Parts: sequence; structure tokens; C-alpha cells
Amino acid sequence: MMTLSTLAQNMPVYLDESKPVEQRIDDALSRMTLDEKIAVIHAQSKFSSPGVKRLGFPDLWTDDGPHGVRPDVLWDEWEQAGQTNDSCVAFPALTCLAATWNPQLARLYGENLAEEALYRNKHVMLGPGVNIYRTPLGGRNFEYMGEDPWLASRMVVPYIQGLQSKGVAACVKHYALNNDEEYRHQVNVKISDRALHEIYLPAFKAAVQEGGAWSIMGAYNLYQGVHNCHNATMLNKILKKDWGFDGVVISDWGGCHNTDEAIKNGLDLEFGSWTNGLTAGASNAYDNYYLALPYKKLIQEGKYSTKELDEKVRRVLRLFYRTTMNRQKPHGFLCSENHYATALKIAQEGIVLLKNDRNLLPINLQTTKKILVVGENAIKMMTVGGGSSSLKVQKEILPLDGIKARFTDAQIDYVRGYVGDTVQSYNGVTVGRSLYETRSQAELTAEAVAKAKEADVVIFVGGLNKSDYQDCEGHDRKSYDLPYAQNEVIEAILKVNPRLVYVNISGNGAALPWIKKVPAVVQAWFIGSEAGEAIASVLAGDVNPSGKLPFTWYASLNQCGAHATGSYPGTWREDYKIIDEEYKEGIYVGYRYTDSKKQKPLFAFGHGLSYTTFKVGKATANKQVMTTDGQISFTVPVTNTGNRAGSETIQLYIAAKQSKVDRPVKELKAFQKVYLQPGETRNVTITIGSEALSYYDETRHDWCAEPGKYEALIGTASDLLPTKHTFQLK
Ligand code: BGC
Repeated sequence: MMTLSTLAQNMPVYLDESKPVEQRIDDALSRMTLDEKIAVIHAQSKFSSPGVKRLGFPDLWTDDGPHGVRPDVLWDEWEQAGQTNDSCVAFPALTCLAATWNPQLARLYGENLAEEALYRNKHVMLGPGVNIYRTPLGGRNFEYMGEDPWLASRMVVPYIQGLQSKGVAACVKHYALNNDEEYRHQVNVKISDRALHEIYLPAFKAAVQEGGAWSIMGAYNLYQGVHNCHNATMLNKILKKDWGFDGVVISDWGGCHNTDEAIKNGLDLEFGSWTNGLTAGASNAYDNYYLALPYKKLIQEGKYSTKELDEKVRRVLRLFYRTTMNRQKPHGFLCSENHYATALKIAQEGIVLLKNDRNLLPINLQTTKKILVVGENAIKMMTVGGGSSSLKVQKEILPLDGIKARFTDAQIDYVRGYVGDTVQSYNGVTVGRSLYETRSQAELTAEAVAKAKEADVVIFVGGLNKSDYQDCEGHDRKSYDLPYAQNEVIEAILKVNPRLVYVNISGNGAALPWIKKVPAVVQAWFIGSEAGEAIASVLAGDVNPSGKLPFTWYASLNQCGAHATGSYPGTWREDYKIIDEEYKEGIYVGYRYTDSKKQKPLFAFGHGLSYTTFKVGKATANKQVMTTDGQISFTVPVTNTGNRAGSETIQLYIAAKQSKVDRPVKELKAFQKVYLQPGETRNVTITIGSEALSYYDETRHDWCAEPGKYEALIGTASDLLPTKHTFQLK
């Protein structure tokens, strides 16, 4: 009879949970055949790759990401599988999460999303995305965390930690420089090392080094003439060698183009090639993947040993132990009350009050008897569309329904106002409400004007809508203007009723030509399942808004470095295969550009109003001189000077006063959100180290904090920094 101890003795090391993971990996690797090794480094279906059945390793299931768990598609097709257990909670888009400036909410986001993923038996979530908001035309900016590397870094780390704390891998995307959607497979980015390291890489680096991301997704575009999914500089040098990444590099779907490069340049797991979807090719051609039979053949012919293969398999096995083989994983829950509560909280904290003249908001519940809601976005589901982040939700409260449910004492009227080329369905998920309309624009405008005349307040819910070219994967916007007849309708309404609240739904800024005439503007993002309730709670004042813009809202595209320097969208080469796009604006992205040109944007980075008022007192520091290995702390008193409780975000920017190189006027280096009762004062203390003073030195290929004079500028928005403190680095 087998005793327990003989059982343990016979248990192979790779299955023995008491053994260190690296030892288990070595053991598993030594037992795998060449075919098994080749199998685990490429997909077997749209979203899965095989485990090793003979040894008891389950298949690995990935799924989008990043705002909820995408519904299942068929094994080999993009069509819906028609499951009944994949209606999820849609959490707010990552732009909204970034706008909360609240890392604790990012942690909660990750944890909740992981629970939904666990229920669905998904092991890798394809997200979060941290590509930098370089131009407001960027079709996928809504999926990312804004323009600032520090803000994105602080928000992405807890998201990953939350997700992975439950045994679900993050797959941070799209690494790197995927800032154009238009021709994303063809754009070859030319960029200075300094801009690369100071602007575009920090959030990825933080995701890897602080967040401990278990996987990362290579981007579609090229850098230095090589596709990022097999780019030696990006993957072998920066990611794996310099940052010490021990996880799996997963290709974006169809982002792999070459077997030799894929073997040598750091790709570990290939997805999405040749399967009649994102790239052309025969269906069910998994054996023909670049890292499948073509790779095996090269090994058999002796061109490669199994050195590179073993390294890839090692990483994949490590991912297995972290996910599929992790027996400690908790149970998952779909659509739990907690998940909805989190989605609502993030939406409420992320909504940004951009403008509020004469305190039009919150809407006075006593005196407001008639509300007119205008705009297609008030009745349009925004969880469907936009590309791979499209979801099938259990519920989505539309803005109009949220407003009706909250303002029960008022008469709510609705008119559509304009017709957009609205997505009716995406990837088999159909939008619930019929949007059929036969009337002309003139008739729609006339109807809106007639009803606006009678209303106490007009709420125009507009913006973009996740249709192609309107915040959607695969294309950038064609212009900075609001689409359709929105501006025309707003101007017409303003002539008869100036009490207009403009609620903008988007992941991007837009030109707002009527801005001086509209008293109240609310940025409401794509905020998922609880959209209507969140918007209504802010409009009614149940929630005191505290979101801050994670990007600069330009008055026009000329204020954006990528456009002002003529860099975007680049130039086709003669063979029309590659577009070279030189990032001529360099490190001057977002407020770094407008600051350098002394331009005033429509709304500054970090801007966001509240229904109460705050006063930031004078900053003091704990020292005048800091050393390279030391720290310095600044303290500011913050007082809620109004009569409502509310949150304010204290932002600290650093200005280098003397430097060998060009430095931005200022750069965000720390922030802290505080909640204050009316009349309450709190001292906020923020500590930074010398890395907050450093720039990337292109000659030394390293970060450098120069001795000299610096200023810490502290306040509540990048254009509202009332207190500063000068200090020295020695
Ligand atoms: C997108 C990725 C996504 C993948 C799988 C690609 O087109 O760029 O972000 O995760 O498809 O859906």
C-alpha cells in the first residue's frame, strides 16, 4: 500500500507545490517533447493556447480587457459563441479611472475585474493599456490612462496588483509607442531616446517593476524599422534585460510577422496570426503560425538549438504556475453587487466638472420643474463598440434613464437633436434601443429648439460614440470637431435657452466652439454599466465631483505638439508599405508642450472643479537641501472653504531651474487626493526622491539627477499651482 510519504516521494517535482517554482519549471521543461514545447508558445484558438495535457497543465485562456470580460467568440471565428454566462459588469473606461487620481480605486478595479475573469475561467486579461495620449485624435485613448507618465504609472500599478492578487494575469498593452490607430500595422515610430524613456515607457516600466505584471502585449507598430512584437531593443534589451521582466511577451493579435525575428527578438507567445480575422489568411491555420511548424522545422534543420525555445517555454510555464496551476485562486463572481458598487464609485469619482458658471450645477431640485435632455448619447449604449474592449453587459443604465430615475419631481422630456452614424451592433452584440430616424436635421433642430424654450434647464448629452473614427479601435478621428450636427444644435438651443449643461461622453477632448456661452460642462467618459446613475448623481449633487483631467484639453489641434510640429500622422515611404512618423515634439507632450509655448488650453491637465471650494495654503519643506539618495517632504494645508464635503487632489510639479538639457517648464511628480468636510483643514504631506528631479541622459543611457536648484509647485491643477518651494539637490 502507498503511504502518504511514498506518494510525496513519487510526486514529480513539477507538481509538488512545496518545491520552488523555478525548480518545478526546470522539471516540467525536462519532461516536455519538442512538439509540446512548440505547442505552448502559440495559440490554438482565437483566445486560448494549449497547456500540456499529458503532464496535467490546463489550457491558457486569455480575454479582453480592459474594462470588463469580453463575451466568448467561437473557437475559430470572431462571431459570438452565444453563451448565457458571459454578460458582465462594464467598469468605467481607463481614462475615467485615471481621472479619479485615486490609486485605491485602481486596486479595487483590478480585484473586481479579476473576480469576473475567474468566474469565466479566464487566466489572462488583455489589459490594462498605458499608451500615452499623444494626440486627441487617437482612436483608443479611451482605453488608456492619459498623457502623463507619472499619473499613468501610479494608476496602472495597483490595477495590476489587484488583478494578480487573485491569480489572474495582467497583459499590459500595447508595448510600446502604439499611439496611432490609423495604419497601426504600418507606422514606424522614430523617436529620441529621451522621449521614449521619459514619456512613453515609464508606465510600462512601473507595470513591470512595481506592478509585477506577468505578461505584456507587444504593439502592432514598428520602432526603428522592426515590428514591436519582435523588436530586440524593446523586448530583449529594455524589457527583459534592463527591467528584469520575467513574464511572457504575448503578441498583439496578428502582430507577429516573421519567424526568425520572433525566435530571436523576445516574443514568447503568438496570438492572432492567420486566422481570418485581424490579419488575412486561411482559417484554422494555427500550425502555420510563425512560432509553430516553421519554427520546429528550423530546429530540426539545425538552424536553431532549443535555447531560445526553452527560454520561451520557461516563461510560459511560469505563467501557468501563476495562473492555471495556482490552486489558491479564489472563486469568481459575475455581476456581483460589489462589482456594480465599484463601477459606480469609479464613475462618480472620475467624472470631471470642467466648467460651472453661476453654479448652474448641481441642478436645483426644488426650482427645476422641466428638464429637456437632448442628444443621441443620452440613449446610446456605450459598452458596445469601440473594438476589442466591446462588452456584452448584464445592464447598462443609459444617461436618460438615470436622469429620469433621479429627477422624479421634474418633467423630463427627451429629443434626439441629431443623428449619428451610430453603431447598432458590434461583434454580434446588438444595442438595445432602436435609433431609427427619418426626419431631416432641420426638423430635429427645430424640435430641440421648441422644447428647449419651455425647459428650466437643458442637458445636452453629446460627444463621441465608439463608431468608427469616433473613439474606436482601428482608426483615429478624422477631426477634432464634435461629429454630426452637435455644434449646430447646441448653438440653436443657446439662442433660446442659455441654461444649458453639456455632458460630454468620450475618451478624448474635442473642440467646443460655443464654450464661452455654455455655463456648465461635465466630462463623463465611457463609464460602463452604471453610466446613467453616475451622471445623474453628479448633476443632482448627490455626489460632489472630484475628477481631474488626465490630459490637456486643447482649444485646437495647434496646441498639441504632435500636430503643431507636423509629426502626426507621418509620411508613407515610396513603396506604400511603411509610414515613418518622427515624434518631432519629443518630450513635449500634453501640458509639457502648451507650457513650453505659453499657450492656454481650453482646460488644463489636472483641472476639475467641485461643488465646494478649497484653499491651498503655503507649502513648507522639511529641508532646503536634499542629496541624491535622500528625500524631501513638502507639507501644505488644504481647507474646504465651501459648505459641502468634497475631495481635492493636491498635485506637485517639479521645475528644474538649471540644467544641461532642455527641461519642461514643470512635470507632475506626486499627487494625493484628500476628502474634507466643510471647514476642515488637513495638512497634506508629499515626499519625493531624487528620481523626481531626473531626466533621461541620452549619452549615458541612464537617468540623471543634476545637482542644482529646483522648484516644487503645488496646487490643484497644472494651471493652478499657488504655492511653491525652492530647494537644492546636492
Ligand atoms: C487589440 C488588442 C486586443 C486583441 C484581442 C487587438 O486587435 O489591439 O488590444 O487585446 O486584438 O482582441
